[in-house]
Amino acid sequence: MAYAAFRSIGAYAPKKVLTNEELSTMVDTTDEWITKRTGIKERHIADENETTSDMGVEAAKIALERSGIAKDDIDMVICATISPDYFCMPSTATTIAKKLGLEGVTSFDISAACTGFVYILSIAKAFIESGMKKNVLIVGAERLSAITDYTDRGTCILFGDGAGSAVISATQNKDEAIIDVHTGADGTYADLLMSPNGGTGSPHDALDGEAKACFMQMKGNETFKVAVRTLTKDVKDILESNDIKSEDIKHFVPHQANYRIIKAVGDALKLTKEQVVVTVQKYGNTSGASIPMAINDIYEDGSLKAGELLLLDAFGGGLTWGSALVPFSPLLR
Ligand code: UT7
Repeated sequence: MAYAAFRSIGAYAPKKVLTNEELSTMVDTTDEWITKRTGIKERHIADENETTSDMGVEAAKIALERSGIAKDDIDMVICATISPDYFCMPSTATTIAKKLGLEGVTSFDISAACTGFVYILSIAKAFIESGMKKNVLIVGAERLSAITDYTDRGTCILFGDGAGSAVISATQNKDEAIIDVHTGADGTYADLLMSPNGGTGSPHDALDGEAKACFMQMKGNETFKVAVRTLTKDVKDILESNDIKSEDIKHFVPHQANYRIIKAVGDALKLTKEQVVVTVQKYGNTSGASIPMAINDIYEDGSLKAGELLLLDAFGGGLTWGSALVPFSPLLR
């Protein structure tokens, strides 16, 4: 049987930085409020002409180069995004594949909001373990600035743009294998965080302008509480079902939504400060891109080494959630 190994990571953040100070000239907020309630200091914002697939491509090029796997050997591309290049088609994954010069490769998007990267990891793992695919390029890419209402201080202070990518490939070596991925969803809580306009579920006359059609709306405080509860339970479940102790985790990489959520989850699980990866201060919440962007940060600063165990944990609109136990198993050392 083939196992699935996490070979490489890459990420991209657009050049333009939007600081808390700049936001406080746009809506009724302050750097102090944002810092205290979220931990966010700045977020990156895509250029006017920079699409979600453009950012995904930049992240994917780095992941591909670091993987040591030839581009032509990639046999599937999956993109997690809630801010696709096009509303219906083509998929952002197909556009990424085309821009990378990957011909005839199975490509599709999934929509699982901030849990998107964990979902695409689980799909890559399943395809590889079934023997259907060998080398899967996964990409979490978001241009959330395009679906953010910059008159709503409850949401616009949170979100940023960016992309992260990884190459997952087949191995016969069980020690290199992704140990487990859990995913779940519950539509009962859909109204906590959603883009209520613009789809077939919304009456057309509810739209108050095309540009606003996809804007996100969030019941922040309720979402916060469900996030802490769900993220904590996710971790307990996946550790318990795999008989792994929290001290065996080298890097806990939670979805980067709010420092207070990350801290509450880390404390509830008795994780040390050294174990918990925090990047929310510089990227804000980049939804499906947040986990791979955070993994890329610890890779680039030298703290993620071959063989170390990552614990991923995400929560997002839908509601969706997921967690994963992933040894970092690069081919190139
Ligand atoms: O990525 C997927 C999931 N997303 C999340 O997990 C996000 C979860 N939620 C959050 O991160 C937090 O709920 C927020 C950061 C969005 C809000 O923080 P909070 O501590 O839950 O504040 P709140 O919504 O309870 O609002 C407290 C007060 C309100 O004023 P009043 O009613 O007490 O007078 C808000 O109007 O803070 C006000 N407020 C603000 N004040 C200054 C809300 N947003 C702002 C703002 N600046 N940007």
